[in-house]
Amino acid sequence: MTNPSAPGNQYRGFVDPTQEELVLVLDFGGQTAQLIARRVRDQNVFCQLVRHDLSCDRIRELNPKGLILSGGPASVYGKQAPKVDPAIFELGIPILGICYGLHLICEAEGGSVLPGTTREFGRTVCRVTEAGQLFDGLPPETTVWMSHGDQVEDLAANFVSLARTDTCPNAAVKHLRKPIYGLQFHPEVTHSEHGGQLLANFVKNVCGCRGTWKISSLIEREVQTIRERVGNRRVICGLSGGVDSSVTAAILYKAIGTQLSCIFVDNGMLRKGESDRVRDRFQNHFRTDLHVVDARKQFLDELAGVSEPQQKRKIIGRVFIDVFRKEAESIENAHFLAQGTLYPDVIESGANGDGPAATIKAHHNVGGLPEQLGFELIEPLRDLFKDEVRRMGLELGLPEELIWRHPFPGPGLAVRCLGAVSESRLDTLREADAIVLEELRKSGLYRDVQQAFAVLLPVQSVGVMGDGRTYEDVVAVRAVQTDDFMTADWYHIPYDVIGRMSTRIINEVRGVNRVVYDVSSKPPSTIEWE
Ligand code: XMP
Repeated sequence: MTNPSAPGNQYRGFVDPTQEELVLVLDFGGQTAQLIARRVRDQNVFCQLVRHDLSCDRIRELNPKGLILSGGPASVYGKQAPKVDPAIFELGIPILGICYGLHLICEAEGGSVLPGTTREFGRTVCRVTEAGQLFDGLPPETTVWMSHGDQVEDLAANFVSLARTDTCPNAAVKHLRKPIYGLQFHPEVTHSEHGGQLLANFVKNVCGCRGTWKISSLIEREVQTIRERVGNRRVICGLSGGVDSSVTAAILYKAIGTQLSCIFVDNGMLRKGESDRVRDRFQNHFRTDLHVVDARKQFLDELAGVSEPQQKRKIIGRVFIDVFRKEAESIENAHFLAQGTLYPDVIESGANGDGPAATIKAHHNVGGLPEQLGFELIEPLRDLFKDEVRRMGLELGLPEELIWRHPFPGPGLAVRCLGAVSESRLDTLREADAIVLEELRKSGLYRDVQQAFAVLLPVQSVGVMGDGRTYEDVVAVRAVQTDDFMTADWYHIPYDVIGRMSTRIINEVRGVNRVVYDVSSKPPSTIEWE
């Protein structure tokens, strides 16, 4: 069995078997597999994604309270169809199969799966014929979300149907003797009206979980682990001003106090007041050993005359590593580097251990920086989803304003100052951006949008101020609503709010005589302009 406290292993994507109540999602590559884990955690039960072909022995070792087989793009009768170790059906551990997972279960028990006569995508009404433990407390008719071409044709003799839709007689099934269930629809997506309740019923009624997993106990456990691992050595944490790095620093500070050194690089591409806010939090509030590196000139010099967006990103990335490395080398006895890597990054990187394979999910660059820097990694948020990180941050005493801060890209204002950047253009953008955010906050809409900012365009337009003609910069305002930043809708800012933003920017920011509003969604546009 993996030793969870062995150096290097703890944060490397292995399933954490120390959890007293653990539910595993066997990942068959479905788009919503992560969501299943999220919904189970809503029940205060720890849940992790694992590779679909994890051996029965390993599963027994991990001792989960339940297994959920996710959906996936394959057909069980296809040549390359991913399968499970069939011995898992004999373990006595409750199993729930969702979509492809249901097909696997039925096939393994002697049923048949075929392409349905009609494919079912979207909402449909599901009629419950036998409530039992799974549908306990649900109404007899409920809207569910379907996304399938195949369906169970012949139910094995050992199974009964619990629910049906107009075209799918086996929308939910149950094994007659074993604690094995299957759903053709996706309870994990919010379009399934009572999906959360269904998963709660599986986890609580069928698996017998009590729901004891709490952020506060997780903090205690992390603090303990960090202390043991770090000993009397020093940890460096790079702060960006964002939620993830701030929560990482806060939990490390709780664990090792003054043995933590934070590095904050001021690259000159930050938003107004960011440097002061970081100082205030981590020097005055947490009293960490904070190194603020003023590298504004170095970044600006390297970026001089560069207008191609990817080129700008590359330069900023390279200079950042240089500056960070230099500062880190000046810190004595530094052995570890703490990073705010989150669980979705770990899953998508195809991290080693029991985690799902990278071939199924998109690649994500996790842990690139530390290998170049030669530190051992500490990633205390590696098991957490974003909203869990926020809850942890609040429990650790970080201010609401930081916890709900919109994401800010690494290259910062450089990719919002279109074309070549200069100190004065960045100053103009910084002032306009501050007004956009201030007005959004004042109108109570900040939490309604997921990202809002100003963009300085590389064009000038004619205006008239007083009696004179002006020829000045144009600022665009961008605000989007999004669940995952992969797709986004432009936000309908009320006219009076956008009006105030415009008036203030033109009156207060020198060199700007026009404000426009970006009404494009992603795709085909992106959230950032560069
Ligand atoms: P796009 O513009 O691709 O942005 O729709 C999606 C999300 O990613 C952020 N973003 C970045 N974040 N480095 C980052 O750390 C980058 O180079 C970068 N480019 C885009 C963007 O702000 C949005 O949240």
